[in-house]
Amino acid sequence: MNTPTEQVRERLSTASRVTVLTGAGISADSGIPIFRGPEGLWKNFRAEDLATPGAFARDPNLVWEWYNWRRELIAMKEPNAAHQALVKMEGEMESRRAQFRLLTQNVDGLHTRAGSRNLVELHGNIWKVRCTGCGQVTEDHRVPIPIPPRCSSCGEMLRPHIVWFGESLDPRDMDLAIEALEQCEVMLVIGTSGVVQPAASFASTARAAGAFVVEINPDVSSSVAHVALRGRAAEIVPQLV
Ligand code: OAD
Repeated sequence: MNTPTEQVRERLSTASRVTVLTGAGISADSGIPIFRGPEGLWKNFRAEDLATPGAFARDPNLVWEWYNWRRELIAMKEPNAAHQALVKMEGEMESRRAQFRLLTQNVDGLHTRAGSRNLVELHGNIWKVRCTGCGQVTEDHRVPIPIPPRCSSCGEMLRPHIVWFGESLDPRDMDLAIEALEQCEVMLVIGTSGVVQPAASFASTARAAGAFVVEINPDVSSSVAHVALRGRAAEIVPQLV
């Protein structure tokens, strides 16, 4: 009898389409705090004061100070074995002409730094800024960023290029996500509490479309998965490749 890990590895090795959804838990093993739970960021900070369009309109400097703190924290961290295993998985699938798509809710940019290519950053990226005037999006790796940061083209204030509570995902990202969910044979759901929409519904969408859904999380979070591999992402994901 195969172990659940072996069963998942076998399915992955024959699937022609695999979709992966990641959340803060995959970066926890790099030392980046997650959002929920006793040690989570939302235990000590109020999302409505820091991660909403209203908060930015009220006090942009405060919001930027919080993002500067997070940028500083993330800048010191490295991708871990789970990020790297997903890069390897993508490479292996590509070499046998299978399709791999990685959907992440994380804004830390660690998937890109690890080398993932077919990636959709659903909630944006902490290393990108968007002008509140002309809308131009640019990369900005300054730590700390001078507060308040200004657009070099039009002089208006820049904001983090992040999808805040109350904002919608980029429709192009949603289209890519839905396509990947409806077409995949196997879906891995790694390190997310599954409470923030629309990503919270992605596993159900994939399962309804016929995918075999696997959850990787030390805690129980989804009831949608066919198989749950309980443990840290950096320990479990490398075992699947
Ligand atoms: P959460 O903080 O809500 O959930 C993190 C999940 O990771 C939990 O289910 C933990 O059990 C799990 N976890 C913890 N350590 C882990 C490890 N080492 N390996 C694997 N899993 C582990 O984070 P998200 O679900 O990503 O929005 O939160 C979704 C969104 O809410 C975020 O994208 C963020 C936040 O507000 C934005 O940044 C816009």
